[in-house]
Amino acid sequence: GKVHAFYGTHQSGITTPVQQHLYFASLDLTSSTTREQLIELLRTWTDAAARMTRGLEVSDGGAVGGGPLRPPDDTGEALGLPPAALTITFGFGPSLFAGEKGARLGLAGRKPTALADLPSFAFDLIEDEQSHGDLCIQACAEDPQVAVHAVRNLSRLAFGKAMIRWTQLGYGRTSVTSTSQSTPRNLFGFKDGTANIMSDESAELARWVWTPRDSSPVWFAGGTYLVARKIMMTIESWDRAQLGEQESIIGRDKFHGAPLSGGEEFTPPNFAAVDGSGNFAIAADSHVRLAHPDNNGGTRILRRGFNFVEGNNDLGQLSAGLFFISYQRDPQQFIDLQRALKSDAMNEYIRHVGTAVFAIPPGIGEGEYIGQGLF
Ligand code: HEM
Repeated sequence: GKVHAFYGTHQSGITTPVQQHLYFASLDLTSSTTREQLIELLRTWTDAAARMTRGLEVSDGGAVGGGPLRPPDDTGEALGLPPAALTITFGFGPSLFAGEKGARLGLAGRKPTALADLPSFAFDLIEDEQSHGDLCIQACAEDPQVAVHAVRNLSRLAFGKAMIRWTQLGYGRTSVTSTSQSTPRNLFGFKDGTANIMSDESAELARWVWTPRDSSPVWFAGGTYLVARKIMMTIESWDRAQLGEQESIIGRDKFHGAPLSGGEEFTPPNFAAVDGSGNFAIAADSHVRLAHPDNNGGTRILRRGFNFVEGNNDLGQLSAGLFFISYQRDPQQFIDLQRALKSDAMNEYIRHVGTAVFAIPPGIGEGEYIGQGLF
């Protein structure tokens, strides 16, 4: 199985070619956790994450090595499975730095400058129990069991210090971050990720994703901000919309993913092009027109979302959607794009129910621990 390095300039799981499965967890510190305990937790997590990404058990004792008289260190469900390209990415939420908690942890003045809860947007129907959090863990892998095992064992290690607030299971990437990958599809059936920032576009990454060398605070250089949005899709209404309407809403054709102004998938959209009746080929309220850098002062983000389906409602309708994750050097990039999407024709078919933002500290070298610069 493929192994991605845990140590490096930036954390893995951002530009890493997007894996097929996600298990995302947001945790809150318990009300008595001290600064020393938080540091200890981050040290323990670093060590465990470095091991698990190599396909090892969470500790030397592992699932059975600790003897019959102790609960096993490792929960065991990944025994015999390959590393499955596992990446584990950690982040800090605004609440970690705020109020009494921030003061208790000695972090009040240490917050990455742009870290703040997102504002509310038109059409938001945010539920608090699927939003926010002090810490986050994004585990991505080619095998869902490997991703779940990682989060489960990390949350066990946090026992008494931090507790899971919400989690999200995602299957099927809705994005590409490497030119070696083919473009996957979201649950609307459209190719998703075509115009994403790719891992080999280092100038674009430096401009839009990584915080700069002179970032504020300085320890946060080489970090980034993660925005997560749980977006429900009203699948049944979408499935009753005509193909032509679906394509007009996205601004691309469904089969090839080509812009409606013509060409193939990677042809740049021509927003000035008009059809036979004199209307814009790419409609004024289409998603791609509204989200495109040309219409947003050049702004780009790195998208890394996943499909989810979690049961159904009483009417037999699927409870499904897109768990949207984006990385940007300033959350304002997401805010500007999401505001631009206010007139998106897609809004009739989606509902944002979860929101979160996390500061993702830079990568570390061996011997260091995640977020070390913060303390
Ligand atoms: C492009 C779907 C939410 C930002 C696209 C494309 C699709 C799509 C099919 C075209 C292919 C591509 O370039 O990736 C969706 C769906 C969403 C959703 C189904 C919700 C369920 C969002 C949100 C944002 C966003 C919340 C940011 C606020 C973008 C951007 C592009 C894009 C920046 C690339 C535009 C370009 O440069 O051409 N999306 N999207 N999307 N989307 Fe979304």
